[in-house]
Amino acid sequence: MTYNFDRVIDRHNTGSVKFDIRHDLLPLWVADMDFPLPDEILNEIKKRVDHGIFGYTMTTTSYWKALDSWCRREYGYQVKPAEWITVPGIVYSLSIAIRAVTEPSDAVLIEQPVYYPFSQVVKDNGRTLVVSPLFYNNGRYTRDLVAFENAVRANNVKAFILCSPHNPVGRVWTREELQAVAEICQRYGVTVIADEIHCDFIRPGVQFTSFATLGDEYKQKLILCTAPSKTFNLAGLQVSNILVPNPEIRQCFKRENQANGYNEINALGMTAAEACYNMGKPWLEELKKYLEGNIAYVNNFLVQNLPEVKLVEPEGTYLLWLDFHGTGLSNNEVKERIENKAKLWLDHGDIFGDGGALFERINIACPRSTLEQAMNQLAKAFK
Ligand SMILES: Cc1ncc(COP(=O)(O)O)c(C=O)c1O
Repeated sequence: MTYNFDRVIDRHNTGSVKFDIRHDLLPLWVADMDFPLPDEILNEIKKRVDHGIFGYTMTTTSYWKALDSWCRREYGYQVKPAEWITVPGIVYSLSIAIRAVTEPSDAVLIEQPVYYPFSQVVKDNGRTLVVSPLFYNNGRYTRDLVAFENAVRANNVKAFILCSPHNPVGRVWTREELQAVAEICQRYGVTVIADEIHCDFIRPGVQFTSFATLGDEYKQKLILCTAPSKTFNLAGLQVSNILVPNPEIRQCFKRENQANGYNEINALGMTAAEACYNMGKPWLEELKKYLEGNIAYVNNFLVQNLPEVKLVEPEGTYLLWLDFHGTGLSNNEVKERIENKAKLWLDHGDIFGDGGALFERINIACPRSTLEQAMNQLAKAFK
């Protein structure tokens, strides 16, 4: 390995959301990583810092070129800058997208369990939340297309927020699955807001399909939300890239963005993102191998030490979804043990909505020794 992912770096007292809210729990909750960027990328950021002037900044040609090369190579689509808008975050973009394509009290569909801000952002914008549940069968999550279509039709749904790959259940939707959803949405005039933030964490043997590659006919009512923030751990630098192919929807999106008063990209964020797209691939490849080791570690540990807790085998993301049904405990008892006995901060499954109770989400993007400590604390609490 060229890069050292075993090194533990103290993140306390850096204003870290993960580490600095509670100092009494070992944090493996919010989805950022405890790994530093490699020197070749840090050097680019340092060069920009050394320039010393951080005035209003716009996206440069070299930024779009870097994004285009990345997207062509990794996902098989081209980037036409005129169709893209940079914003400070994906949740931010979901909020703007909802306002751009729906009216107050219109119905917006999500699939639960899912990343909790999805429901929040729908409700916060005064839209009607409609939930189509995912189904958990034999350790795997799927959607029921009939139920999905019924939910769309019965509620006159105007927009669907797709999580692809899916946080927290770890599914990487196949082309066929996405195609089926795309066809239903097209039939009912539903705009698809596709959140693909986790798409660079795909496990060996699994294929990611971007919604943008399903065919031109499905791009007319698509808002594609992408970012380097999960891939390269840049959440604090606030850069996301949003594709809005349809000019009318793009206009609405820009108007809502403007109404928020947001205009210019973060200068360091842009430099970092460009450097990552240009130079980050070797680091990412090694990181993914390391994460594979972490997944295997958790799986083996559970089988050997805590067989009543089951890992839902993920296809992507660095977030593991653990099934606590086998403990025979209630949801509240599981939560209580994790916090008060294991002294861990995990994301409790119930915050992800329907179907989340008795699951816990654990972020494994940390050095192995941190994960070992966490799993030992977990096992002790459930013995
Ligand atoms: C599916 C999904 N979307 C969006 C985000 C957050 O994106 P941002 O920080 O850019 O708002 C996360 C973070 O965990 C996520 O899992």
